[in-house]
Amino acid sequence: MGPHLTRRAFCGALAGAAGLASLPVRAGSPAPLTARVTSAQIAPSKYPATEVWAYDGQLPGPVLRVPQGGRVSRRLVNELPVPTSVHWHGIRIDNAMDGVAGLTQDAVPPGETFDYDFVVPDAGTYWYHAHTNSFEQVARGLAGALIVEEAEAPDIDRDEVLLLDDWLIDPADGQFMLPFGHMMSLSHGGRLGNVIGSNGTIDLSRPARSNERLRLRLINGSNARIFVLKLDGLTGWTVALDGMPLPAPEAVTAELVLAPAQRIDLIVDVTASPSETAGLLRLDDNNLWRAQVRFPVQGAAASARREAPKALPPNPRMEPPGVKDARRLEMAMQGGAMGRMASARFNGTPHGFRDLAQRGQFWALDGQVGLGDAPFATLDRGETVTLRLTNETAFPHAMHLHGMHFRQVSGDGSLGPLRDTILSLPGEPLEIAFTADNPGKWLFHCHMLGHAASGMTTWIEVA
Ligand code: C2O
Ligand code: CU
Repeated sequence: MGPHLTRRAFCGALAGAAGLASLPVRAGSPAPLTARVTSAQIAPSKYPATEVWAYDGQLPGPVLRVPQGGRVSRRLVNELPVPTSVHWHGIRIDNAMDGVAGLTQDAVPPGETFDYDFVVPDAGTYWYHAHTNSFEQVARGLAGALIVEEAEAPDIDRDEVLLLDDWLIDPADGQFMLPFGHMMSLSHGGRLGNVIGSNGTIDLSRPARSNERLRLRLINGSNARIFVLKLDGLTGWTVALDGMPLPAPEAVTAELVLAPAQRIDLIVDVTASPSETAGLLRLDDNNLWRAQVRFPVQGAAASARREAPKALPPNPRMEPPGVKDARRLEMAMQGGAMGRMASARFNGTPHGFRDLAQRGQFWALDGQVGLGDAPFATLDRGETVTLRLTNETAFPHAMHLHGMHFRQVSGDGSLGPLRDTILSLPGEPLEIAFTADNPGKWLFHCHMLGHAASGMTTWIEVA
């Protein structure tokens, strides 16, 4: 991490010598992205505002938009009372910029800064979030959308970024319910909110016109909630998953499942008539459909519907890997409440499940709780691997690989779309394949963030 710290230390020394006021702002000095404490009205207005941690004081953080092939250049300014770092989720990024405290950088102490500067090779819908104690920091609000724009925009009327989230709020005072690492949520399905919304509000409503064509960029920013969604008064196509374009748009005919950290890009036509309300609906905990986002329709954008949309232009390096001669890896996902994990390695020695539970560690990947000194696997650069995951737990998990996208291998050997996060269900083994073409140390972990913090995190190294 030399150049950035060095440059900062150098500028600091200079500022000390010359006096801050006389220093011109260095051309090309990155725009700040400031993590700080602020408040937001998340719960209904009869509750007090919630103290949140947010980028640039906005919940969610500002939508960052960059052209494909361009650079993201941001100076993280840490005004929080605790150390933090930023992970750019789904970007096939330079390892030093991946933001994983303890693996790719040191966490940035309060009052300090870190310069992130990287190229974005792929167009699509991505997001950024804290990657230091993420189970707490993301739950407190440190997340935002990162949109990488295609050189040639698809033919749409409007683009809507929808960051879906939930928050666990204490009705007594409107503040986050503590503790973030509650044993019950760590060992079960994770921290699920009692307040659910989009873009930081529980009743997001966006104006629409009939026959209007929208691109909806859905991002699941929640700690643990699996959103089950459907369209109402909208006809749509899935055009990208986890940022990566599908070879052809797929008509939305069934419910959409959006696990934590996953993204779905939809192109939708407003089929509701003026004065009706279209919507993105979610299945609630009582199996009722509720509005996640409302689209009240006023007037018409066109008198007739358009033809089906075209595919988004492909990103570079999307060729499916040949998996016949791939190196085969296997990983068991273990632990949790109602699991059958008897013991696992933790900090270099074996521990029984009860002992682990007392330390707040409930999960393991292939017998290892959390990061071991050695990576789960060391891969040669360019090598193709398959990884078979067996979910021996009683819970679903959203497994995320940093730095590279993968494809699911189905029983007949065919390959699914590129993804960076996949939902694993109990008792249903699944296999993924990828080419290890990005050198560095990459995390592989459950994106139910409490699970990640309590054991379900490992890493691989690409030499
Ligand atoms: Cu979205 Cu390891 O993170
Ligand atoms: Cu999990």
